[in-house]
Amino acid sequence: MNEMNVILLGAPGAGKGTQAAVLCKEFSVPHISTGDMFRQAVQAQTPLGLSAKSFMERGELVPDEVTVGIVAERLAADDTARGFLLDGFPRTLPQAGALDDVLGQLRKGLTAVLNIEVPEEELIRRLTGRQVCKVCGATYHRLFHPSSQGEACGLCGGALYQRVDDSEATVRSRLLVYSRQTTPLIEHYRQRGLLKNIDGLLPIDVVTERLRELLRVRHDRTEIRP
Ligand code: AP5
Ligand code: MG
Ligand code: ZN
Repeated sequence: MNEMNVILLGAPGAGKGTQAAVLCKEFSVPHISTGDMFRQAVQAQTPLGLSAKSFMERGELVPDEVTVGIVAERLAADDTARGFLLDGFPRTLPQAGALDDVLGQLRKGLTAVLNIEVPEEELIRRLTGRQVCKVCGATYHRLFHPSSQGEACGLCGGALYQRVDDSEATVRSRLLVYSRQTTPLIEHYRQRGLLKNIDGLLPIDVVTERLRELLRVRHDRTEIRP
């Protein structure tokens, strides 16, 4: 077995999406972001989107049963044969339990949980200055990671927008929700020996390098296992 079944853990704004975009390409595994899946559903006005929209706008979590359902379906797709990178899931202990059940049914196990650590004041600066491309989803920051084309995407030329949940008031609610509902997962995965902490205050490319090293070590270990 040579799978890379990884969870990226971290507060809103820690850099999960930024890092996942690079690593998934490099390791050829799908980037499974529940936030992105919900945003696409909201955009397409599907029943899923309609039920998720109000929770997201308030910075609250979409109910576990809804979220677990979409992840279970996504993990069962063929493209996860070599692994996957989960971004923004699980976010509650019940979601972590449900993930174990789903992976058990698929005869898969987790390889690592990578926790990107960033202090709260920095998270607020990052989220309130974030810009996302409407076309390709690339993520920028007005100050920390500006697009080479100003208000257009440096990769595809698409228009950049600000997420509705990136106002300072909603960011504060999301951070509170994270500390109450998601931080217990850190201890949960530490106890299982899967947790690796990364200093998320480092520059974007340095964080990528640290994550890459951790993934390579894990990857090699799974490769040489009899
Ligand atoms: P989701 O989309 O997952 O949002 P989040 O977890 O709040 O995380 P973000 O996407 O805001 O941050 P990120 O870590 O990806 O940071 P990024 O790389 O963009 O979820 C949205 C909503 O959907 C939730 O609130 C909830 O309602 C719902 N939802 C999703 N999953 C759910 C679940 N499992 N259960 C229930 N509900 C769920 O970076 C942020 C900014 O910082 C960018 O501007 C970037 O350029 C910059 N940056 C990144 N790294 C660095 C660095 N090292 N130095 C300087 N700047 C940096
Ligand atoms: Mg994200
Ligand atoms: Zn783009």
